[in-house]
Amino acid sequence: MTPDDVLTELTALQAGDVPTHGGATMAYVYDSGRDEVDDLAAAAQAAFQWTNALDPTAFPSVARIENDLVGAALALLGGGPQAVGTLTSGGTESCLLAVLAAREQWRTGGGTGQPTMLLPVTAHAAFRKAAHLFGLEVVDVPVDPHTCRALPAAVGELLDDRTALVVVSAPSYPHGVLDPVGEIAALAAGAGVPCHVDACIGGWVLPFLDDVPEPFDLSVPGVTSLSVDLHKYGYAPKGVSVLLTATAELRHRHWFTTAGWPGYPVVNPTLAGTRPAGPMAAAWAVHRWLGTEGYRELARRVRNATVALAEGIAAVEGLRVVGHPVATLVAVAQDGDDGVDVLHLADEMTARGWLLQPQPPFAQPDGVLPATLHLTVTGATAGRVEALLADLAGAARAARALPPPVPDPGLVAAAADLDPAGLTVAEVEGLLELAGVGGGALPARMAPIHALVAALPRPVAERLLAGVLGRIYRP
Ligand SMILES: Cc1ncc(COP(=O)(O)O)c(C=O)c1O
Repeated sequence: MTPDDVLTELTALQAGDVPTHGGATMAYVYDSGRDEVDDLAAAAQAAFQWTNALDPTAFPSVARIENDLVGAALALLGGGPQAVGTLTSGGTESCLLAVLAAREQWRTGGGTGQPTMLLPVTAHAAFRKAAHLFGLEVVDVPVDPHTCRALPAAVGELLDDRTALVVVSAPSYPHGVLDPVGEIAALAAGAGVPCHVDACIGGWVLPFLDDVPEPFDLSVPGVTSLSVDLHKYGYAPKGVSVLLTATAELRHRHWFTTAGWPGYPVVNPTLAGTRPAGPMAAAWAVHRWLGTEGYRELARRVRNATVALAEGIAAVEGLRVVGHPVATLVAVAQDGDDGVDVLHLADEMTARGWLLQPQPPFAQPDGVLPATLHLTVTGATAGRVEALLADLAGAARAARALPPPVPDPGLVAAAADLDPAGLTVAEVEGLLELAGVGGGALPARMAPIHALVAALPRPVAERLLAGVLGRIYRP
């Protein structure tokens, strides 16, 4: 084979993928809509793809890149003179490290036993992963059922000696709304507890807008760390995020150092050992080229498109926009009992070439948050709002004509009695066959599957979801 043959074979694999460009895939990908951004990122990535950011003394270039990007993030997001930061591989890693730092600080401050984290139910799942990995207990903070913003009163009641961290989102992934950062950070500070702002998705958009309802960044008293992803609205390729900490002391708490082996002395600021420098270099290049003005122009264009989209959606009979979206995300819910089922709507939009991400209904202490569709608007979608709204109107009519997706009652009843921890892989696969998702291929219409997942006890649903991936990842 020639290298060209190999590349042809490789790129042919992408035929079944959702498009990464063009703005129709409204989750997972961030397309600025500007080819030059992509070309520049690709060239920068290629130039650094063999560099190992593990050791900035061997590769001083990566220290410079990291310092420049962290400096830019601090300038944009209210970092004071003591503030520092770290480049990570993505939002999840930034959130993990924020939790790790808080846990270590809590222990250093004399905390014993198991620490807790106060987590609004709308905070990203990465924090649940962090709790799982680092041994914290999650204490759920309810959100207002209408605005979907975290309730400060609940935070006030739940703070205690075991609280190692309070988290807020700017904005939250599921609904795109801004938590009351100032109020909650003040409560946390009053109790001597750090407060992390997860601005992974909004942190490179909100600073450029004029209509942000309230401050949310490191300049807010009580905010001790903040995460922001460059591989989202920094329009860099996958694999780069920033974790900012108000002090070098706090950053030090998520570093790992050992001289306790016969190999090279280890200082790892992140979870990785070897660190890919390609995404960092690409982010640096895109940032250098777009500059503050370039990002501002893009952010405003996307924000205007989001506002127009939200207004258009609110005008579609049977649909409503959840809460007040402050950035570039919109959550769409069924309006009224006879409104449009959004799980069917997602399938109808898929058939029309769009990817709108279904989010199941969620039971929280203050009632059930309805099922929603998540729409991430990017530069590429901004030029297609009219087409999107036209397809949404047609899809809503089609979805209305369908009976509500109801999971098989026999399957739900049987699953309710299961002990998920005791299920073998083979038993999980048997259940998936019964549910119509055996064999690793998902059906074209996913609404009944989402309805089934929502109807199952959470631990059972989680076990079955892992089973689906277990079938997909088979050599
Ligand atoms: C608010 C928020 N936090 C964390 C993450 C996790 O980021 P990643 O997928 O890069 O790990 C996301 C991803 O969408 C997010 O929106």
